[in-house]
Amino acid sequence: MSQKLILDCDTGTDDAVAIMLAALHPELDLVGVTTVNGNVEVQYCTDNTLRVLDHIGRAEIPVYEGLRRPIVRSDFPVPRHSEVNPSSNIHGRELPLPPATSRKQDTGAVEFLVETYRATTDEIALVPVGPLSNIAAAIAIEPRLVEAVPEVVIMGGGNVKGNATPSAEFNIWADPEAAAAVFAAGFPRITLVPLDATHQALVSREQCQALAALGTPAGEAAATLIGQRITGYDATQPMATPGSAPVHDALCVAYLLHREVLDVQRTHVDVETAGALTVGRTVIDLYSRSGKEPNCDVALGADAGLFVDFMLRTFAPRS
Ligand code: RIB
Ligand code: CA
Repeated sequence: MSQKLILDCDTGTDDAVAIMLAALHPELDLVGVTTVNGNVEVQYCTDNTLRVLDHIGRAEIPVYEGLRRPIVRSDFPVPRHSEVNPSSNIHGRELPLPPATSRKQDTGAVEFLVETYRATTDEIALVPVGPLSNIAAAIAIEPRLVEAVPEVVIMGGGNVKGNATPSAEFNIWADPEAAAAVFAAGFPRITLVPLDATHQALVSREQCQALAALGTPAGEAAATLIGQRITGYDATQPMATPGSAPVHDALCVAYLLHREVLDVQRTHVDVETAGALTVGRTVIDLYSRSGKEPNCDVALGADAGLFVDFMLRTFAPRS
């Protein structure tokens, strides 16, 4: 039986690869994609999601547009898309894929999440890979969601790394109150996939060539999108191995089918919402200093070879 999931995305380049993996792997059943303001304004995230699904022939997977602002703050950070220096654009505003012909659903993302988890008797994993605004809003409306979601796999945070500020990772920083609410909600199984793990699963230009050589729409799109990421990372935040980049969100999808792709440690995670220098920081209690019960499995390591192999196999032609 395939693993059902919902992806909650702020669709830029790495979200797009995550969507393609979830939509194409035969052991995954992507029930729907919800979008949220993040990498770019939510309407572009939605349009990008539709482009990706159309491009790989999975336009029947429904897309639900979500929140255009954080749940508390009105000062959402401006999108990181740079008109001035396109080479620094890790995401860009519109993905380099043909315009979509499919349309988003009339139902909004938060309503979809609440109604789906209220009604389902199936186990549907929830995989948020953007700011946690939709998820926090859904549990505020329906607190029993916490019991209905068997597993949450979140891309976000960092133990020793930040990328939006020296202290904070983008997804958590972009809506810290939402993130704090999600970690405090009491979900029985949360896995946090922070930068500490995703920066160990780097993809190189040579591996992009191997993806392109698959000759499938997904393989070629992944090569283009990850190539764009490598150019952006080399220009703005070079990785330990230059000419390579993390594909953060896709690692969460790999983990659903290959638990061994991540090294996880059970611990307590809080989110800083007040610190002038540290807002959006995930406070990861690796040495049990807080005395609080663990609420999360945190990934501190990743197997890059396994991850790239998973992408190559998923995007290969099917006989
Ligand atoms: O910090 C990495 C995260 O921020 C990824 O989810 C990326 O898509 C952006 O949203
Ligand atoms: Ca994302």
